[in-house]
Amino acid sequence: MSVKTILKMGDPRLLRIAQPVTAFDTDELHLLVTDLLDTMRAADGAGLAAPQIGVDLQVVIFGTDAPNPRYPQAPVVPRTVLINPVITPLPGADCGLPPQEEDWEGCLSVPGLRGKVPRFCRIRYTGFDPFGDTIDRTVDGFHARVVQHECDHLIGKLYPMRVRDFSQFGFTSVLFPELADSPDD
Ligand code: NI
Repeated sequence: MSVKTILKMGDPRLLRIAQPVTAFDTDELHLLVTDLLDTMRAADGAGLAAPQIGVDLQVVIFGTDAPNPRYPQAPVVPRTVLINPVITPLPGADCGLPPQEEDWEGCLSVPGLRGKVPRFCRIRYTGFDPFGDTIDRTVDGFHARVVQHECDHLIGKLYPMRVRDFSQFGFTSVLFPELADSPDD
């Protein structure tokens, strides 16, 4: 078990464009994934990206096998390791521009805060698992939101950079007092 320090907003390493993984099923990659999983579990996170532990690679993990105490109302997203991801926003029923919706997000690199962030409602995402096998899913709602949030970490974006209305941004303990005893908020 290796729980790493999670970098906080302000650290320039969170602003880098992450490098693609070029070799799969290596000891180094499996060790990175183990560190990410251990660190995410220890923090009760909904997801974690390699740059958040200072590793400049396109690797994200997300999902849990049980409801997340930091997001008790959220549907369960299957635990996933996603490498070199590509996200394609999907159009709505009217075939117009891909619709977006706003909802609350938090981030382990921005502890104690939540903000309302617009995300595409429905996306297709592709990439690879640690063995180099293809992942190709079409998802919506919370699952789509988590993937967009985590993949933003790979292009140096933290969710506050996406907030449009700063009246919808604040301290978790004030906005959601019922979550105030959550370990990192
Ligand atoms: Ni985050």
